Amino acid sequence: MNYHQNLEWTPGRVVTLSTHLEKPSPFYFGYDIKQRFTSILNKYTFDKVFFFTEENLFELYGKELYNELRQKFDCRLEFVPPGEKCKYFPVLEEVCESLIAKGVSKKSILLAFGGGTVGNIVGLVAGMIYRGIRFVEIPTSMTGQTDSTLSNKQAVNGKTGKNHFGLYHSPIFIWSDTKYLKTEPAFSKRSGIIEGIKNGFISDATFLDYLEETLNPQLNFSDEQLTDLAYKIICSKLEILKKDPSEKGYGIILEYGHTFGHAIEWLEQGKLSHGESVSFGMKIAAELAYQLGLISQADVERHYYVIEEKLGFNNSFPAQITAEKLMDAMIADNKKTGEDLRFVLLDKIGQCYDPEGDFLVTVDPEFVKRIVENFIQQQREKTSAKTYELIA
Ligand SMILES: NC(=O)c1ccc[n+]([C@@H]2O[C@H](COP(=O)([O-])OP(=O)(O)OC[C@H]3O[C@@H](n4cnc5c(N)ncnc54)[C@H](O)[C@@H]3O)[C@@H](O)[C@H]2O)c1
Repeated sequence: MNYHQNLEWTPGRVVTLSTHLEKPSPFYFGYDIKQRFTSILNKYTFDKVFFFTEENLFELYGKELYNELRQKFDCRLEFVPPGEKCKYFPVLEEVCESLIAKGVSKKSILLAFGGGTVGNIVGLVAGMIYRGIRFVEIPTSMTGQTDSTLSNKQAVNGKTGKNHFGLYHSPIFIWSDTKYLKTEPAFSKRSGIIEGIKNGFISDATFLDYLEETLNPQLNFSDEQLTDLAYKIICSKLEILKKDPSEKGYGIILEYGHTFGHAIEWLEQGKLSHGESVSFGMKIAAELAYQLGLISQADVERHYYVIEEKLGFNNSFPAQITAEKLMDAMIADNKKTGEDLRFVLLDKIGQCYDPEGDFLVTVDPEFVKRIVENFIQQQREKTSAKTYELIA
């Protein structure tokens, strides 16, 4: 697969990829490919299909597909709460019990039609019912199409952090139609693209060059450009997964910016998207790598340039987050690994620092805290300067 070449633009054409994970799934990709879905699903034997989505996505696109499936199969419609609200234990319990009441069997298939959140809750439900039934992911967001479906991790959030409870469960296939991306809100689309930018920083400087040339802060793209962008971000992640399908060795580099990002996202309790939190996390990780003597000031500035000026993620850092709160949230979240605070860091653009074969680097928390304090102070000064400019 050469993702430096443009994808041939043919609406309706389905490109078949693989997730390259330990339990790989076929990944069908294209623009306006809905008409091919039923024939692919029909290759599987099943008694019922449960079609999960959010109400707004049902109105936008789901209805058409659901009505088509209903004419051919025993297909039931199920709604989940929108966005992150569906990733909680009470929803998980309600969905599982409701499926049992509606006669789900080991022969049934669940369909997850929506963003990464719908994929996560439905994937988890599918992994738990009767110790595992089949499910299909139909991602409708940039994050869903280029990131969350390229990982078999399914989870809900806990009381002290994101994705604390879950399991690994692979879909029988993924159906990625970029036509859906047109209506995705810009803040949400940016959240997916930021992971592509991350892939450039951690593994491929030429991909970062491409993103710098292609992105614009308004996200004005033709259907062809948006499809090409999604395809290349997918391929940038697949290149990493091919080297480490477990995501636990080399693949851990995908966590770049996420140690800080998860803590920021958690502290903001839904006010900041996953991607915007990670965008702040990547900037802090770059500052940390610079202060450790790993990368240059120019490399740090490139983070700000591509994230803020090219992608348009340039909001102020959340006012209520202090260095203390951020450190506490990271330490609480880190309990799951039972280890010191460890970070993925760059040692140049397109490459991660790998001392002694380990991409997770332990850094003294006091040192990290100083970097975070400086970062927050700089961010506050920037915000004040912007406000002053506006008033003047
Ligand atoms: N398993 C993994 O490895 C992995 C990786 C990345 C993210 N995730 C998870 O994915 C979630 C984030 O995914 P997301 O960014 O898709 O969030 P999301 O599912 O909340 O979707 C974002 C918003 O966009 C809307 N939306 C989605 N598609 C749309 C469309 N085509 N048109 C109009 N609106 C649309 C949704 O209604 C929602 O309001 C997080 O919970 C994160 O933890 C998991």
